Amino acid sequence: MATPFVPKQALNFHGALLQELQGNVSDTIAQSLLRELPTLTSTSVVHDNGCSYGAVTLAILALDPPPVGAQVYATDVNPMFQAQLKAELAKISSPPVKVEVDTMDACNLSFPDAAFDLSITSFVFAGLADDVAAAKHILRTLKPGGTGVIGVWKSMPWHVALENAHIKTRGTDEPMAPFLSKSWYGKERIEQVTTEAGWEDVQYIDKAAWLNLGTDLERWARIAWTFLATPVGGWTQRDEDRWDEAISSISHELAQSDMHKFEDGIHKIRMVADIAVVRKK
Ligand SMILES: C[S@@+](CC[C@H](N)C(=O)[O-])C[C@H]1O[C@@H](n2cnc3c(N)ncnc32)[C@H](O)[C@@H]1O
Repeated sequence: MATPFVPKQALNFHGALLQELQGNVSDTIAQSLLRELPTLTSTSVVHDNGCSYGAVTLAILALDPPPVGAQVYATDVNPMFQAQLKAELAKISSPPVKVEVDTMDACNLSFPDAAFDLSITSFVFAGLADDVAAAKHILRTLKPGGTGVIGVWKSMPWHVALENAHIKTRGTDEPMAPFLSKSWYGKERIEQVTTEAGWEDVQYIDKAAWLNLGTDLERWARIAWTFLATPVGGWTQRDEDRWDEAISSISHELAQSDMHKFEDGIHKIRMVADIAVVRKK
């Protein structure tokens, strides 16, 4: 099979770049959320579902005081992102919490029933093939009295900048790049999905955080365009020819956004999440 065309400006993607793309935003949300959820103890068993580089797991490890002896299962369908979490864990000489990293589809968890005290699925639902199945698995794998959490983005100002770059460089007739078209989820959909999955008395929390875009907006735009803008049918020569135009359009729009600030040499964009929380009966 022929190797698919990739524009020469595209980056070679790996877990560290995903971490840079996410610019601490889900880490900040995870840290803030853990302060509001029931306190973890030495016997807590936690699922970080769709863990990627481990924003949730690393926030648990950083709790002060840490829940010494607690167990975290960090799972993701993509082993490439988990490699980044494994590298982060390898840097901690005696972690206070046991962490097991595994490859698993959130729509088909192989954990037994009633395994977890806390299950957090943060910023994963937008891309799932079967979101209702995923919500059922979260409920199934919680212990009675355990807490289930689903986080989705309500406001992502950078997203519009990428959609506009798609329209500018590819035209309005071309279908939106798949990763961009499926990044939106919305509170109505979590309400529907959790109801269909049998979640009862769901509480909703709003959480805002700054996405750290780094010192160089064009670099962040290049990572985002590489990761999120692959068109339907794959990259073409046109994407290489118009790459610089796309990057400068994104950088310019981000800098102009009402939700942008430049602080201590770092560009930041404000994002807001909708978080659904259930306590299993
Ligand atoms: C935007 S990242 C969020 C990661 C992390 N939970 C956080 O809060 O930063 C989405 C992650 O969901 C993972 N993912 C997508 N589909 C999945 C599935 N079906 N099962 C498990 N993980 C999935 C991706 O591989 C990616 O690592």
